[in-house]
Amino acid sequence: MKIKHVFKWSALAILLVLFAWFEFAYWTSTNDCGRSIPAGAERMKAIKYCEYGLPDDVLKLEQVEKPAPNDNQILVRVRAVSLRFIDGGMLQGGIGRLVFGLRKPKNTIPGSDFAGTVEAVGKNITEFKPGDEVFGVRAGCLAEYICVRSAGAIVSKPRNVTFEQAASIPTALVALQGLRDTAHLKAGQKILINGASGGVGTFAVQIAKSLGAEVTGVCSTHNVDLVKSLGADHVIDYAKEDFTTGDERYDVIYDLVNNRSFAERRRVLNPGGICILAGVGGSGMRKETLFNLAGELTAALRSKFSKEKFVIFGVDINKKDLDVLRDLTESGRVMPALTKIYPLTETAAAYNYLETGHASGKIAITIE
Ligand SMILES: NC(=O)c1ccc[n+]([C@@H]2O[C@H](COP(=O)([O-])OP(=O)(O)OC[C@H]3O[C@@H](n4cnc5c(N)ncnc54)[C@H](OP(=O)(O)O)[C@@H]3O)[C@@H](O)[C@H]2O)c1
Repeated sequence: MKIKHVFKWSALAILLVLFAWFEFAYWTSTNDCGRSIPAGAERMKAIKYCEYGLPDDVLKLEQVEKPAPNDNQILVRVRAVSLRFIDGGMLQGGIGRLVFGLRKPKNTIPGSDFAGTVEAVGKNITEFKPGDEVFGVRAGCLAEYICVRSAGAIVSKPRNVTFEQAASIPTALVALQGLRDTAHLKAGQKILINGASGGVGTFAVQIAKSLGAEVTGVCSTHNVDLVKSLGADHVIDYAKEDFTTGDERYDVIYDLVNNRSFAERRRVLNPGGICILAGVGGSGMRKETLFNLAGELTAALRSKFSKEKFVIFGVDINKKDLDVLRDLTESGRVMPALTKIYPLTETAAAYNYLETGHASGKIAITIE
């Protein structure tokens, strides 16, 4: 057989195997919905979604089995959950199906950023005791109780904020690490924050100020006052002014939107400046989201050949930086810009608001 036929048949065989694997993985992808609660088991309320879809169609308030901690876990009574960018994406599936479950979501309780009180601890836990107030990140936290590994992202709550505010803090990891570790932002530097009024942006403005930078925030007209109130030195209303055509130059651009080209952003960077590619616009999947994602990748590649660096940033969720954020909050240098609080029964409304892509600051859900 000629060599080109060997290649052709091998490629076809690989494609068939991949297709069969995908079909198998798709149809065997399942979750715990429909499983009954064992008789005598303790119950609790939780928000569940058994299928991918729109918040109003798939989010249900249900009774589920209450978890019990093992020796290395902390049982937390959740008092508040704050939604973040990824939460909406998980609900609707899309490309996220590759991670969250192909046909159905694997983890059927949404939510990841929580605050609450320690209810009980496993016998190996020395860091926390019942009654301690905590906050952190744990997938599947829109429930009355969750178990968190002691090594997981859980730390004590700042004393000066409510549970709703505390649940909003983990999002600030994206701002803290992007500005401190990737941009190496220093006192006196000029920074422009594109997307300054959203969940991450409102923290980025305050953290940049606490690092001593001169901050310019970009947002829409209805959020100008909010961004000013967080301490921004200058605010650009993107409906009236294009930040890429002005005379001002910046040492750092912290970009949560990525809706401008590489050349446009490079034009307003000082020589040797850096642009942190941290996001693709407001929550929710729109056609701009994909354009912005493509723009992010192109800018990162193009900057390989320029003095100005465009760096893609990914957050690392860890206890150490949650502690840093707790201390920043207790010192009053950073305060969550919480703008809306929903009861658990109105979780779908909270998701719908977030998914507009124009939520101001952070939103939280209270679990009474
Ligand atoms: N890199 C990471 O590890 C990481 C982790 C988490 C999140 N993120 C990214 O961070 C981004 C922001 O997340 P978020 O939680 O802040 O989302 P969000 O809370 O939904 O933020 C929405 C904000 O985006 C602003 N916005 C929308 N279009 C804009 C535009 N054309 N120009 C300027 N601002 C615009 C909106 O402001 P207006 O209403 O004023 O337009 C709104 O306040 C997301 O794209 C997400 O992917 C990245």
